[in-house]
Formats: sequence, structure tokens, C-alpha cells
Amino acid sequence: MKKHIQHPIFNLVSAAAEELKIDAYVIGGFVRDIILERPCKDIDVVAIGSGIELAKAVAKKIGKRTKVTVFKNFGTAMLIYKGYEVEFVGARKESYDRGSRKPIVEDGTLEDDQNRRDFTINALAISLNKNNFGELLDPFGGLKDIETKTLKTPLGPDITYSDDPLRMMRAIRFASQLNFTIDDASLESIAKNKKRIDIVSKERIIVELNKIIMSTKPSIGFEILFNTGLLEIIFPALDNLKGVEIVNGKGHKDNFYHTIEVLDNICPNTNSLWLRWAAIMHDIAKPATKRFEKGHGWTFHGHEDKGARMVPKLFKELKLPLDHKMKYVQKLVLLHLRPIALVKDIVSDSAVRRLLFEAGEDIDDLMTLCNADITSKNQTKVKRFKENFALVKIKLKEIEEKDQLRNWQPPITGELIMETFNLKPCREIGTIKDAIREAILEGDIDNSDKAAFELMIAKGKELGLTTNKKH
Ligand code: CTP
Repeated sequence: MKKHIQHPIFNLVSAAAEELKIDAYVIGGFVRDIILERPCKDIDVVAIGSGIELAKAVAKKIGKRTKVTVFKNFGTAMLIYKGYEVEFVGARKESYDRGSRKPIVEDGTLEDDQNRRDFTINALAISLNKNNFGELLDPFGGLKDIETKTLKTPLGPDITYSDDPLRMMRAIRFASQLNFTIDDASLESIAKNKKRIDIVSKERIIVELNKIIMSTKPSIGFEILFNTGLLEIIFPALDNLKGVEIVNGKGHKDNFYHTIEVLDNICPNTNSLWLRWAAIMHDIAKPATKRFEKGHGWTFHGHEDKGARMVPKLFKELKLPLDHKMKYVQKLVLLHLRPIALVKDIVSDSAVRRLLFEAGEDIDDLMTLCNADITSKNQTKVKRFKENFALVKIKLKEIEEKDQLRNWQPPITGELIMETFNLKPCREIGTIKDAIREAILEGDIDNSDKAAFELMIAKGKELGLTTNKKH
């Protein structure tokens, strides 16, 4: 382990601890990540004594007026040194108040501290003490669990999860993020204790959920969330997509599995959390719009429209931001069928122009979503769709280059109309603007200032308006 703790911070902590005559260890995520060879910039140091005193002593050694941030309520202290954020805490023996996540804390030994951690892989410690500097202290076989990619709790899982129910989300997040397997005892315990997630704030839950979404294959996490029953509690609208109904021998897709497949499909093509959220939400209104039509089968008419209208409420419930990010997800949900509709029809230029106009700068993301949405067990069908989809892409490019409609604003402004016809604000201005926009989108006139101006004059005359002498 010695080679992993070459950074000067470790020698400084070691020397400071010796002067204070206390023991100190690196512990938790940092140790896990060096073994997994994942980059990690957060170092947790546990002191068998006061973490705050140790932090102050280390800061003194670094000199240059190194700032120590003390969190008195938590008994922790933090400093930043050469790109690392180092947090110091005294070893604790904890028991938890059942009604909240607030621990009742007492001083403890290293073993007490390791016992109270969430997973064996997060309970590994490396000694910073002179006599055994660099030695790995692994009382629960965390190293072996890293090798076998297993998530296990150090204590009985009911104790660990019930003590801090956020750990149920963390287990699933680590499984998804690291591609680890949660051991059976833990899975059973999560299913049993799922209701305890209610004492965790939604803000903390969404942090973990977003980490699941940002993992390489988020379906791993979502399947476990579903199977343990947590999904039903934290995100019922997604849970509700599960299941297949059969009428007259006809079934429909399982929309939960479809959705997480679309999410997996989109991941290699985007690191945007919000495009991934659009994938999660794209069919969210399918249960609400599901109908069985005789002679036709299952339909979900209007699910894109209803889905877009559901987005603000869902974002609010999940404690996701209600700003432009929400609007972006809403827009993609609303438009998600449009590119594929272009595949089905003989593509007219005006339909493509309209899509470009409505999607604006998000057209590429919409196409990425739409491509990910093509899932079917029938590979011939997938192939045909993908080929047609490629044609739509070409068409979009052609029209975009020709008409320059991305981020397009119709060339005639309300001010120009008012000035030309000597008008105060009135309904006619809107009528003229709409007519110009429609004529350009339909391809009746060119997307040019000159053609638009001529149409404005003609429309104005039609409406009985007279022009300013200048015109
Ligand atoms: N920990 C815990 N229970 C929690 C949160 C954290 O036991 N609910 C412990 C674990 O030992 C963990 C350490 O505190 O390794 C540090 O927690 P944190 O920084 O939140 O997570 P990391 O494990 O470092 O992982 P990540 O940085 O990916 O969140």
C-alpha cells in the first residue's frame, strides 16, 4: 500500500499525529478507489483522538496560513492541500436515533469506526503511524470483496441500513457505478427496510439517483431499485411503467424495460445528465394514455404531449431543478416522436423545416434521443428503422444548410411592422408575423429579408393597412 500514499500530505499527517501522540489512518472511499485505480481527490483521515486537533496540527506543518474549516457540530475539520481535499474526523462509536439519520456519537477505536461504515469496501484503512506506515487494515475482507466485486455490509445488513437508510441508495449506486453485485443478505434487507428511505431527504436521494443515471449502464441500478421496491417509493411514475397487459392475445412493450434500455442506449453518446433524464421521461405518460382499440391494438396517443406536461410536477417532486434544464427535458419529451414520424411519411421539406424550427439548438440531442428510442426484439425492424432514420438525418442536414433554420428568428420584427404601417401595438402585427413565419416554414417564400418584406407589404394591404410614405 505504501506506493499509494507517496503524496506529501500523508507524511505530514503522520508526523503531526506522532507529535500529538495519537494514531491516524486513511480510510473509506480513498482507499477503495486506489485499489480500484479510480481517480479520487477526497482523502478521509480518521484520528484516534480529536480530528480537529490533528487537522490544525497538519495545517501548521504545511504553513502558508493554510486554512482549516471546522464543522463543530460534526466534530470534523477540512483543509485543501495540493489539489486534495482532506477531511479529518475522530474515530467514532455510533448508534443512531431511529427517527432520523442523526447519529449519537461517542469517541471510539479504529475498529468501532470501521464497524459503523456502510460497506466492507468502504471500511478499509491504511495506517499512517510510524510503526506500521502503509499497512492495510481490513477487518471485514473488503479487499477480497473488491476483487470479487461484491457489496456487503460490515455488520448485519439490517443494522447498517436501518442506521442510515441512505445506504440502500448508496449500495445500488455503487452496484451501478462500479458494476458490483450486492450480496443476497443485503438485497433482502433493502427490500425489507425500504420504507425507512422516507426519513432521508429527497435532496440526498436525488444525488444518489443522479449518480446511478450517470453510470455507464444505469439499467443495473434501475433494475435493482425496481426489484427491491425502492423505485415505487422514490419515483412511482417510473415504477408504474412496469408490466405488460394482454387483451385478445395482444400485448404491448414493457415500458419500464424499454425506458431503461433507451437510457442505456443513450449513455455512450452523451454525458449530459439532462439528456439522460429526457430518456427516462420520454414515455412517462404511457400508462396515463394507454388504450386498447378494437381491430388496432394498443395505442398511447398523445403520450408525448401529456408526458411533457407531467415533467414540471415530477421534477418538483424529485427535487430536480425547475429552470431551463427542466424546460429542455420537457421539450425533448414533447418532440421525441417527431423525427421518427418523418421516417414514416414521405418527408416533405416543410415537415423537416418545422422540426428544425421547434427543436432549435436542441435538434442534435433530439436526434440522439430518437435514435436511442429505436428498440425492438425484431432485428430486421430495428435495421429498417435505423436506415430510414439515417435518411432523415441527411434530409435535416440538407434543409438546415439551405435554409439556416437553427436558432432561426423570423426576419420581420413587430417593430418593423409598426413602423412600416404606422401602427400602435395591435392584433394585426401578430397576424402578419404568423403569416410570414408560416410562409417560410411551408416553403411558399424564401427565408430571406427581401421575400419576407414583400410578403409583409402584401399582407398589410390585404388587411387594409396603409404604409408609411417612406415605404
Ligand atoms: N459512509 C458511510 N455511510 C454513508 C456515507 C458514507 O458509512 N451513508 C462512509 C463510507 O466509509 C465512505 C465514507 O464515509 O467511504 C466517505 O463517504 P463519501 O465521501 O460520501 O463517499 P465515498 O465512499 O467516498 O464515495 P463517493 O465519493 O463516490 O460518494
